[in-house]
Amino acid sequence: MTAPHLHDTGSGPAVLLLHAFPLDASQWDHQVAALSDRYRCLRPDAYGCGASPAPPPGLGLDDVAAGILAELDRRGIDRFAVVGLSMGGYTAFALLRRAPERVGALVLCDTRAGADGEQARADRLAMAETVRSRGVEAIVETMAARLLAPHSLAEFHVSDPVRGRIRRCTAEGVAACQEAMAARPDATAMLAGIDVPTLVLVGSEDAVTPPAEAERMAAAIPGARCQVIEGAGHLSNLERWDAFNQALGDFLATAWPAGVRV
Ligand code: MLT
Repeated sequence: MTAPHLHDTGSGPAVLLLHAFPLDASQWDHQVAALSDRYRCLRPDAYGCGASPAPPPGLGLDDVAAGILAELDRRGIDRFAVVGLSMGGYTAFALLRRAPERVGALVLCDTRAGADGEQARADRLAMAETVRSRGVEAIVETMAARLLAPHSLAEFHVSDPVRGRIRRCTAEGVAACQEAMAARPDATAMLAGIDVPTLVLVGSEDAVTPPAEAERMAAAIPGARCQVIEGAGHLSNLERWDAFNQALGDFLATAWPAGVRV
């Protein structure tokens, strides 16, 4: 399988940033600006989105994790911190299933460990069908409204770049992400076994993976802490990037310090 495209910026200990659906690696621009003076920021694009190749047929999140690990191997990167937001969090769980020894610190943002229920799975497959028949434009407004808090949706400097990222995804990319997420296994049983420093971040207005769910997930991970990003919806790293960067930077400074490993 062809590996996904990894954007590789900065130097220092490796930090892998896994984006949400249906966006691309540019979702992390604010974080890369803040971290790349002391961390090597590695950002894959989902297959069919950003600069990554078209998704192979029958793609699962474990395949995505394998592709990312192959790209990290190629660059000689052994251990790394993982920051995954929403679908990126589901991919982080896939990485932990495959290569837990390579993950040195974990940040789970606006995500959940549980698998989809029947309705959520059916909705994903219906969206895959919609984009294949009518194109990505058919989901732009629905998705922007789902991902962003109402006040962020009304702020065009926040919401237009989100719309732009969705429009840049291919229909096959969007459909493949939905099919892969629909098929993902339940990761709840893994939480108690996570033995690296872990931070859980969530927007106070996240309607997709709400704060109560994030608090429960953090409580199930030994030593993990949950921090709420006030005023953000599901895309907390874009909507309140300043508070998000502060929380992420503070966590990494102790859990994955720059200047120690390169
Ligand atoms: C995401 O932001 O990655 C998606 O909303 C995740 C999901 O649909 O579960």
